[in-house]
Amino acid sequence: MTIRSAVIADDEFLNRDLMEEILSRLDIRVRTAKDGVQVLRALEDEPADLLMTDIRMPGMGGLKLLHKAKEKWPAMPVVMMTAYASVESAVESMRQGAYDYLMKPFGVEQVEALLLRLSERQQLLREVVMLREENRDRHRARNFLGQTPVMNDVFAVIERAARSNATVLVNGESGTGKELVARALHEQSPRAGGPFVKVNCAALTETLLASELFGHEKGSFTGADSQRIGRFELADKGTILLDEISEISPELQAKLLRVLEERQFERVGGEHTISVDVRVVATTNRDLPEEVAAGRFREDLYYRLNVIPISMPPLRERGDDVPNILRHYLAHFGAEMGCEPSFTDDGLALLCAYPWPGNVRELVNVVERLVVLSGDVPLDERAVRRCLPELVRNSAAGNAAGSSADSAPLLSLDEMEKAHLQRALDHSQGDIQAAADLLQVSPRVLQTRMKKHGM
Ligand SMILES: Nc1ncnc2c1ncn2[C@@H]1O[C@H](COP(=O)(O)OP(=O)(O)OP(=O)(O)O)[C@@H](O)[C@H]1O
Ligand SMILES: [Mg+2]
Repeated sequence: MTIRSAVIADDEFLNRDLMEEILSRLDIRVRTAKDGVQVLRALEDEPADLLMTDIRMPGMGGLKLLHKAKEKWPAMPVVMMTAYASVESAVESMRQGAYDYLMKPFGVEQVEALLLRLSERQQLLREVVMLREENRDRHRARNFLGQTPVMNDVFAVIERAARSNATVLVNGESGTGKELVARALHEQSPRAGGPFVKVNCAALTETLLASELFGHEKGSFTGADSQRIGRFELADKGTILLDEISEISPELQAKLLRVLEERQFERVGGEHTISVDVRVVATTNRDLPEEVAAGRFREDLYYRLNVIPISMPPLRERGDDVPNILRHYLAHFGAEMGCEPSFTDDGLALLCAYPWPGNVRELVNVVERLVVLSGDVPLDERAVRRCLPELVRNSAAGNAAGSSADSAPLLSLDEMEKAHLQRALDHSQGDIQAAADLLQVSPRVLQTRMKKHGM
């Protein structure tokens, strides 16, 4: 039986008792309640595998309770119990997400049959979730593609680093696979059975990031209305990925330094010292030594992070990997769409000549678009041209693949990037977010590059 605990709600003592006895005999730990409010309190205290509730109760009735329970514990099945007179509301409750209903008076066999059915269903659901996760992770790890010497070096470092607990700092342009490195490290390490926890350091304000990382005690700042366990605690015995590490404030840099040195910290507003056993992986698409030189990033923290540096090369420097990754994702999205798309030679040549400023992420998006828009038709130069971002169709790839723009002077990568950014900005009428979307990078990346070109 996958159901080990249940809450039973009924205002009538006899019904509660009867149900408690039936469930207890099946080795289910039972808590009882007289109305909806009591149920919610009990569940807040400790969640349950099952809720069985009467529909008519004083105070908060069964339907209202069903709503609240589905909102807070969406995975917990709810079974309604009802007398003949309210069968309509029982049916209504199933429409609103109840698993099933029992008509009073019911016999022991009826309840047992329902529980058996429910138990089997829960077991299947659990297996599906587990298989899905396992599959996804294996899939990802298996499909970290690359055969060029630069990538082989990266894989070799990952393999060695995975055996240690050393902190790893991954740098590289956006979309080069930094997160994939962190996952591969985790999966190949003895910590693979533990949690993999990711925090985006650029996405939150300083206060929120502090409590995200370290947790907080109730009332430690406005809005902290209950205790919160931070990501470092959640990552115990596993790996934590600190994404975009360059973005954290000086105060948090100091706190982080201590965690890296001692594996200890306190929750925000707390006094109790917490120790954790985590492997730290940090990523950045900024040049951290430059940030250190400019006084924006602590030098001591940089050295603590940079124990094992891994530099992800931009896709345009990976030569033969490009056609291989293109073919891989072509087959992947083809399978998803139920077709078998292929590239013609000139279609593939055009894609290989494209400089991929958004790296592998951009490539994945372009291939998906190609497959969705063109389906089974062989993907030739025309199809590819139609699917590359508008700016590319006319400029970069045109130059590179030698189309009508053959006679145009060949730009340097830098010049081309600047022109490319300008076109995207013109196109979006100066709207950074829209331009970033077009270029398939984050606004932050766009702004960094604009700064680089003095725009
Ligand atoms: N070598 C690779 N082989 C196959 N897929 C890859 C490879 N590198 C990256 N990808 C895919 O490209 C996408 C982007 O990768 P990832 O999120 O790891 O990049 P990132 O460097 O963390 O990007 P950002 O800096 O924008 O966060 C993902 O879908 C990932 O699976
Ligand atoms: Mg990332």
